[in-house]
Amino acid sequence: MYSKITGTGSYLPDRILTNAELESMVDTSDEWIRSRTGIEKRHIAADDQTTCDLAEKAALSAIKAAGINASDIDLIIIATTTPDLVFPSTACLIQERLDIHGCPCFDVQAVCTGFIYAMSIAEKFISSNSSTCALVIGAETLSRIINWKDRNTSVLFGDGAGAVILQASETQGILSSHLHADGQYANLLNVPAGISSNHEMIKADKAFITMQGNEVFKVAVNTLGRIVDETLTANSIKKEEIDWLVPHQANMRIISATAKKLDMSMERVIVTVDQHGNTSAASVPLALDVAVRDGRIKVGDTILLEAFGGGFTWGSVLLRY
Ligand code: COA
Repeated sequence: MYSKITGTGSYLPDRILTNAELESMVDTSDEWIRSRTGIEKRHIAADDQTTCDLAEKAALSAIKAAGINASDIDLIIIATTTPDLVFPSTACLIQERLDIHGCPCFDVQAVCTGFIYAMSIAEKFISSNSSTCALVIGAETLSRIINWKDRNTSVLFGDGAGAVILQASETQGILSSHLHADGQYANLLNVPAGISSNHEMIKADKAFITMQGNEVFKVAVNTLGRIVDETLTANSIKKEEIDWLVPHQANMRIISATAKKLDMSMERVIVTVDQHGNTSAASVPLALDVAVRDGRIKVGDTILLEAFGGGFTWGSVLLRY
C-alpha cells in the first residue's frame, strides 16, 4: 500500500518579532541578520500558548483540507523538540483534543529533521497495513529554549506548527525516504541540559540552545548535498524531474547551496525562512502548506523535502503530491 498526502495545514502565533526589535535586545543589526541568514522576522508563541496549542490548530487545518473526520485518524506522530510535558507525549495531548481514542500516538525527537523522520515512520506504518490515515505534525515553541541575550542564537529561531494527513493510497505518493544521524556532532548544536543531566540548569532557567554556527553551517551544506545525491540515485531520477524543493528553513545560504547542487533556480524552491525564521521540526510542513495554499505546489508535482538538525540528524522524503 502506498501513502499520499491528502491535506496540509499550518499555524503561526500572532506575535511577530522583527529584526528591528532584536536590535534593541542584543548587539545585532537588521542588515547582519538579513545578509547572514535571510531572516526578516519570526513568530513567537504567547506566554500561555504551548506546542500542543500550535499543533492543534495546524492539525485541524490539515484535517479540513483532507476532507476527513478526526475519527478517521488511526495514527498520530508529532515531531517536536519542545513538548508540552516530559510525559505524556504531545501526540497523546493532541489525540485527547481531537476526541479520538485508542490509536497509537507518539512524539519523535530528531530536532530540525523531526518531521522528515515522522513522515518516514508514518509511511512505514501505512505500507505495512498498520495504519490507513496518519496525522503527522511538526510543532515547536523554540522561543522557550532561546537565550534572548545571546545574539548567536536568538536571531535565528521562531515558533510555529505544520501538519499533513498521510493516507493509504493505490497510487504512489511517497516515493522514498532516507534517514541518517551522527551523534559525534552532539556538542555543536544542543541544549546542554535535560531531565537526567544538568537538571539544575532547567531549574535555574538556563537551559538554552547553544551552537557553533559556522561549524554547523559547513557540515549542513555538505551533508544536504549528499542526501540529495542519495535520494536521486535511489529513485533513478534526474535533477530536472524535481518540480519543487521544500527544504528545512534554517538559513537562506544553506538553502541556496542545496538548490545549486540540484541546478534548481530559486523560483522552484519554497522559501519561508525570511518570514518564519528556523522553526525546527515545524519548518518543512509549514513551507509545504504555504506553497500548497498559494497554488505553487499542485497535484502530481514531484517534491523533495529535506532537513538537517541537531544530533546531527538529516534526511529526505521524495514524494509525488
Ligand atoms: N549580529 C551581529 N553579529 C553577530 C551575530 C549577530 N546576531 N551573531 C554572531 N555575530 C558575529 C560573531 O560574533 C562574529 O564576530 P567576530 O568576527 O567579531 O568574532 C561574526 O559575527 C562572524 O560570526 P560567524 O559565526 O563566523 O558568522 P557566520 O557567517 O558563520 O554566520 C550564522 C553565523 C549563525 C548565521 C551561520 O554560521 C549559520 O547560519 N550557521 C548555521 C546555523 C543553523 O542553521 N543552525 C541550525 C541548524 S538546523
